[in-house]
Amino acid sequence: MADTLKIVGISGSLRKDSYNTALLWAAAGLMPDGVEFNIILLHDIPLFNEDVEQHGFPSSVQHLRQAISEADAVLIATPEYNYSIPGVLKNALDWASRPGSAGEMPLSGKPLGIIGASVGAYGTARGQHHLRQVTVNTNMHPLNKPEVMITFADKKFSDGQLHDEPTRKVVRNHLEALVAWTKRLSQ
Ligand SMILES: Cc1cc2nc3c(=O)[nH]c(=O)nc-3n(C[C@H](O)[C@H](O)[C@H](O)COP(=O)(O)O)c2cc1C
Repeated sequence: MADTLKIVGISGSLRKDSYNTALLWAAAGLMPDGVEFNIILLHDIPLFNEDVEQHGFPSSVQHLRQAISEADAVLIATPEYNYSIPGVLKNALDWASRPGSAGEMPLSGKPLGIIGASVGAYGTARGQHHLRQVTVNTNMHPLNKPEVMITFADKKFSDGQLHDEPTRKVVRNHLEALVAWTKRLSQ
């Protein structure tokens, strides 16, 4: 593993004022030293279709797959939609889960941090558990603890900034644990 650790952040929301995208930007500012962090948004990812896949991955999908391949770990910030993850996130994971022409599987073996923010009282807990289920077949390695399940996000973010200090601390702890988890898995 190189001296600088690469983490790619993926937001499960397309919303302009998304709390989850804002959470990734907060994570960028809270990242431990020695981490290069890039955020990917999913606006350009088409709906998965095996007929399209047969003609090659669309360029936005290729870009996503490459960013994941080049990263040492993935950090997903997901909303909870109807007790699950948003379709756009599942769709992107479906694209990224497919073997490439040389058999490469970008998600396989990747350490994964899962964080999420909801305006409700459960802080994406149920959606995060669905995401963990999906990561079994993609053969990712999610970090178990500390969990980041941000409740009542409208009270903790304003103007795109995560201002709630206890929440910032939990996020920071998660990032430190993700870095340690990534280093441990690379041994
Ligand atoms: C289709 C839909 C389903 C939702 N379902 C849930 C839910 O099951 N649990 C929850 O806590 N919030 C739910 N919400 C509210 C989201 O927590 C809220 O919209 C949140 O701001 C979405 O994340 P974002 O700000 O990153 O876009 C739902 C919102 C939508 C649009």
